[in-house]
Amino acid sequence: ARLVVLVSGAGTNLQALLDACADPAYGAEVVAVGADRHDTGGIARAERSGLPAFTVRIPDFPSRDDWDAALTDAVAAHEPDLVVSAGFMKILGPRFLARFGGRTVNTHPALLPSFPGAHAVREALAYGVKVTGCTVHFVDEGVDTGPVIAQETVPVHWHDDEDALHERIKQVERRLLVDVVGRLARDGWTARGRRVSLKCRTC
Ligand code: GRF
Repeated sequence: ARLVVLVSGAGTNLQALLDACADPAYGAEVVAVGADRHDTGGIARAERSGLPAFTVRIPDFPSRDDWDAALTDAVAAHEPDLVVSAGFMKILGPRFLARFGGRTVNTHPALLPSFPGAHAVREALAYGVKVTGCTVHFVDEGVDTGPVIAQETVPVHWHDDEDALHERIKQVERRLLVDVVGRLARDGWTARGRRVSLKCRTC
């Protein structure tokens, strides 16, 4: 399966996917990496791996709709079977979801539906939960609301701060994302009882 990976940050989840894709048995290849900002670690990792990389920034467009269209076109140019939002910190727009909905997955550092949004780890700590974790889910039009594919728990330690807890979650998250993407690539998946086709819907 052809993967386009979207990033906003350090790109350690991207790196885990790149490492997994080095084994042909994994069944997937990263064909391009996209970002919504300049100077992301994720884009640097893509370039080091010799992969096509593109950046589509919201402030470079007159409207959010124009950004949505440009991002959709940039991703579509690489003809992905599956899009992976791996620490991509923007809400994907309606045009993007019309094209790639049902075959776009996101990784989130909390046990959804608890703590959606950009500050999941901080909010879980502030709430005082004793167990949190990570979720890989299909992306829909909401904020971290799409069908859950897989989750794994991570205990919260009394001495955790946000960075320490997030780092421990990310260790689990990378493994879970690699596992889910590999299964999707090789076998397809069942989301809420519905078989998800990884074939292009428009061709
Ligand atoms: C991950 O925890 C992801 O769930 C969150 O941001 C982090 C990205 O990490 N939204 P990285 O850029 O893959 O290292």
